[in-house]
This record gives sequence, structure tokens and C-alpha cells, in this order.
Amino acid sequence: MITTNSKLIFAIILSIFMVSNSYAQDGETLFKQNCASCHKTNTKKLVGPGLQGVREEAGEDWVIKWTRSSKELIESGDARAIKVYADFNKTAMPPQNLKDEEIIAVFDYIDTKAVVIKAPTDNEEIILDSSLKGGSSDILSWIYGISAIIVFGLFGFIMKKA
Ligand code: HEC
Repeated sequence: MITTNSKLIFAIILSIFMVSNSYAQDGETLFKQNCASCHKTNTKKLVGPGLQGVREEAGEDWVIKWTRSSKELIESGDARAIKVYADFNKTAMPPQNLKDEEIIAVFDYIDTKAVVIKAPTDNEEIILDSSLKGGSSDILSWIYGISAIIVFGLFGFIMKKA
């Protein structure tokens, strides 16, 4: 027997799933709308450099600052910013009006696209890993895991009461 109460609980839990899911998709949409015209998610150049691995290398703070205003970062004397700017013939990247979380979502999306191929060792082992690397996709799996435990727990509880 399904009570109104349990329906409500399911609706809440379902919406939690949908919110966390739409956040993950957001990164893809944001990337396609704002960055894809100039950047690839791998290491190949387009108008600007491929963005794979840039966050790992430069740090999250750096990529957030850069994306908002590369000009400010260059003018602050940041060595990496000056070098990237010079490497790309001083074509300035237009500032992107995005929130911290949106920029993080974009780089999370880039990480999901990254295919890391380890140099072949003696036994020619090739590992494709994109999900194994840290970042907030780990946190998402935790959210899913914990929500699943809550769902089952609540369900058991409701069944007992019914
Ligand atoms: C109109 C083209 C254009 C768009 C759109 C654009 N970029 Fe860029 N980006 C560049 C260029 C060109 C560079 C190389 C540096 C320079 O010339 O200023 C660059 C460099 C970068 C770098 C530094 C890379 C490194 O190796 O340090 C990051 C990070 C970056 N862009 C992120 C983004 C993100 C995220 C977006 C979307 C929200 C975006 N860019 C949108 C043109 C663009």
C-alpha cells in the first residue's frame, strides 16, 4: 500500500536526483554555448588551447580567474597567464560572465571527456580512465549512493508501518 506520505517522500527524492543530474549536464551546455567555438576538450588547439588537464595543472582558482577575465590575470603579472597569452599571439580571450560553480561545471565536463592513455608499459597496458580522477564527479557519486541508501531505508520503514 502506498500512502500519500510515501509519495511525497519519493517526489522529494526524485527531485534531488534530477537537480544533481541537471547540474552535471549544465557543464556540457555551458561549454558548448560559451567555449566550444574556441576550445576543444582534449589537448588539441582550436582558436585557443585544448582544455584537457588545464585545471589539474594550473589549479581551480586560476582557471576561474582566467575564464572571468584573462586580461586582469595577465595584467596582475601572473606568469602562466602571460605565457599562454604570448603563445597564442596575444589574441585575447573574451571575458566570460559565469559564476564560480558554472566554470567548475564546465571543467568537470571537460574531465568527463578526457581520455587518459598511459604510455604502454612492458605488458602494453592501456588504461582509459576519465571517471577515476577525483573532482566533484566523486562527490556526485556519493550523493547518489547516500540518496539510494535513504530511499531504501525510508521504503523499508514505510512498508513496516503500512
Ligand atoms: C573567442 C574565442 C574564445 C572563447 C569563446 C573562449 N576562449 Fe578560452 N582562450 C582563447 C584563447 C585565444 C586562449 C589563449 C590565450 C590567449 O590568447 O589569451 C584561451 C585560453 C584559455 C585558457 C588558458 C589555457 C591554458 O593552457 O592555460 C583557459 C583555462 C580557457 N581559455 C578557458 C575558457 C573557457 C572555460 C571558456 C568558456 C567559458 C573559454 N575559454 C572561451 C579563446 C577563447
